[in-house]
Amino acid sequence: LPVTVYPDQQIASVEVARRIATLIKSKQQQNENAVLGLATGVTPIKVYAELVRLHRDEGLSFKNVITFNLDEYYPMKPDAVQSYVTFMNENLFDHIDIDKANVHIPDGTLDVDAVAAFCLNYEKQIEELGGLDLQILGIGRTGHIGFNEPGSAPNSGTRLVTLDDLTRSDASRDFGGKENVPTKAITMGIGTIFKAREIILMAWNQKKAPIIKKAVEGEISGEVPATYLQLSDHVEFILDEDAASELT
Ligand code: F6R
Repeated sequence: LPVTVYPDQQIASVEVARRIATLIKSKQQQNENAVLGLATGVTPIKVYAELVRLHRDEGLSFKNVITFNLDEYYPMKPDAVQSYVTFMNENLFDHIDIDKANVHIPDGTLDVDAVAAFCLNYEKQIEELGGLDLQILGIGRTGHIGFNEPGSAPNSGTRLVTLDDLTRSDASRDFGGKENVPTKAITMGIGTIFKAREIILMAWNQKKAPIIKKAVEGEISGEVPATYLQLSDHVEFILDEDAASELT
């Protein structure tokens, strides 16, 4: 499993943003769309900040970019402060020239009866666009990617899932208490993520060191969903020195 360690998260984030920009520009030259899988959370914030800077200062255009976010809490209103729609707008979409019609984020407002059809259509939309060119991932302390918690199947698709207790604890600050964190989410599956032509998992800080050790060096198991990435030949882990500090 290829692992690249950078001195700090700022340098690593600029490198990831540079790769995304290179993909977007090469697609532009071929008159094609770049189809990106995006993550929320604190991990990719500096990547998005650098993409905004590249747009503002260096004229990088997102007119040919189509995005699919990994996940959204369920239930969740798009205009709530904690929604991943709000997160993406504030950190990226409101500051670039992407066509909002090209932005896809799982819908946290659906009736429960409508969720399965929505999820199938999410997969279909990705497929019809030729699949994800690049999927960006963070990792949760449970070993989740997207919100694929322990127990997730390697061939899982987009679906409604129950959040792990530790994941809800980690989100409690954003919601002013764990009791306010939704118990469920809609997430792309492990299988959905695997189909991306390139996968980059990022992790920063000491807090992530134990789970990074398990993900990279541990036995492949549904108990740590990120270990499934060991089976992929198109994944790279990009870490800062702290997140890499327990690797042998
Ligand atoms: C977010 C997502 C999650 C996060 C993970 C790490 O869209 O899919 O898997 O990447 O929970 O979160 P942070 O980056 O906040 O540590």
